[in-house]
Amino acid sequence: MGTEWWKESVVYQIYPRSFKDSNGDGIGDIPGILSKLKYLKLLGVDVVWLSPVYKSPNDDNGYDISNYQMIMDDFGTMRDWETLLEAMHQNGIRLVMDLVVNHTSDEHSWFVESRKSKDNLYRDYYIWRPAVNGKEPTDWRSFFGGSAWEYDKHTGEYYLHLFSKKQPDLNWENNKLRNQIYGMMKFWLDKGIDGFRMDVINMISKKAYLEPYENFINGPVVNYSFKPNAPRVHDFLKEMNQKVLSKYDIMTVGECPDVTPDQAKRFTKPDCHELNMVFQFEHMDLDHRKGKDKWDIKQLDLMDLKENLSKWQTALHNNGWNSLYWGNHDQPRIVSRFGNDTSYRVESAKMLGTLLHMMQGTPYIYQGEEIGMTNIHYSSINDYKDIETLNMYEKQVNDEGMDPHKVMDSIYAKSRDNARTPMQWDDTKNAGFTSGNPWIKVNPNYKKINVKQALSDNHSIFYYYQKLVQLRKQYKIIVYGDYRLILRNEPHIFAYLRTWKNQRLLVVCNFYGNNEKVMLPQLSEAKKLLISNYVVDQSENIKDGLCLKPYECRVYLF
Ligand code: NOJ
Repeated sequence: MGTEWWKESVVYQIYPRSFKDSNGDGIGDIPGILSKLKYLKLLGVDVVWLSPVYKSPNDDNGYDISNYQMIMDDFGTMRDWETLLEAMHQNGIRLVMDLVVNHTSDEHSWFVESRKSKDNLYRDYYIWRPAVNGKEPTDWRSFFGGSAWEYDKHTGEYYLHLFSKKQPDLNWENNKLRNQIYGMMKFWLDKGIDGFRMDVINMISKKAYLEPYENFINGPVVNYSFKPNAPRVHDFLKEMNQKVLSKYDIMTVGECPDVTPDQAKRFTKPDCHELNMVFQFEHMDLDHRKGKDKWDIKQLDLMDLKENLSKWQTALHNNGWNSLYWGNHDQPRIVSRFGNDTSYRVESAKMLGTLLHMMQGTPYIYQGEEIGMTNIHYSSINDYKDIETLNMYEKQVNDEGMDPHKVMDSIYAKSRDNARTPMQWDDTKNAGFTSGNPWIKVNPNYKKINVKQALSDNHSIFYYYQKLVQLRKQYKIIVYGDYRLILRNEPHIFAYLRTWKNQRLLVVCNFYGNNEKVMLPQLSEAKKLLISNYVVDQSENIKDGLCLKPYECRVYLF
């Protein structure tokens, strides 16, 4: 397997709106990030993935872009951004920018033109269709609820929007559009950035799913729904790779909902010349009922998680590359989700970090995860800001008459705003995030959970994450070793072995809050305890089994 810097890196994701405000307007900004570079350096991360900072009317917090080559006023200026890039590079931190090219904002000049007339030069930059039998062209639903088609009176046609109606989908079949996107990518790469995280990139191909509808306009009703990974996506990415990506020493990660390991290989195998790695979602789908949407919550079964993560570990070994993540700006906080954010917050956060960071793939830390930030419980729906959450509440409570308390329970578990509350820097007003009024309310637990506290405690989650990051640099086995699940039938334990050259690494995690005893014959050879979330008595007799405390984890090297 080839060695690459992006395989050996740890990435930190910044959601700029919620990271650090420098000018008191209540919104995080670029100078705010600059003021926290020392902190990132202390954590030891190699790369920052910055969620969108481009010009945007903020219907979806920057994932609706109205100008790809300008910085959003809320966040600062292009000069601020250039200063940030320079300072990052001086500190040995690379910068990966978000690339959102499945759709633009409806305020992007391309769309403003496109909707003017059917023969406008930009008409074909988007996906326009006439009504079919007096109805919407297809029955596709938007990911944010409602139809994926919006009727535009002016020209009497519908445009496609897989997300909000202010996010019209681009038509990747259009050669001119593709070349304009490549030009925009070069604009940023030539400024010196180190890669792209590509938003829902496996959704850019739609033709294969639209054609059947068009052929059946007067025929039987066929219930096709939109699926990601349509065949042309590979043509587009190969072209993008050949024309742009291959010309720079960068990393690329494609966000790919609904991707299977076989499809992920096609995206990431080096000889396919597409991307370096994907974000897959299967492990994020294990705590809702199968076939239902994410709001239909159920308890995670550890056995499902073990099978799932193990499947991905083995499938991509030598066959591509994966990313490792528990959180991002769309997911709830992991310690509240799979850990215990009350009595064992510190222990379970460290255990979850260990479980993930000792696997193969490039680990991503989402801002605040390294201090064990938790989900938010606003008592009123009016405090929520996320379009997906608000649309869902509207539909379930106002349209379908569901019990608001039940709906709030799903929101507490799954709302994207769980990840978007301001970063908790200290115990002063608004957690030191802003001197003004934060755009979204701070989690009231900031007095206890904050960076200042974490840095003053040698046993904090922060220093534990710092060590996880260091271990990956120190031991190549963590990056390149192969993977084998052990204790497969133990319902409370997640344990695995990594092997590389003549080394082995054993990772054992008690996933729940009871004491557990496990037999691990391999331990008789174990030489070195690399990390653990409890103080371990080195003289303990482990021959008759290892006794693990609640959420205890250990990593041995031998
Ligand atoms: C995925 C992004 O992560 C999410 O935040 C956004 O709403 C959608 N793509 C649409 O861009």
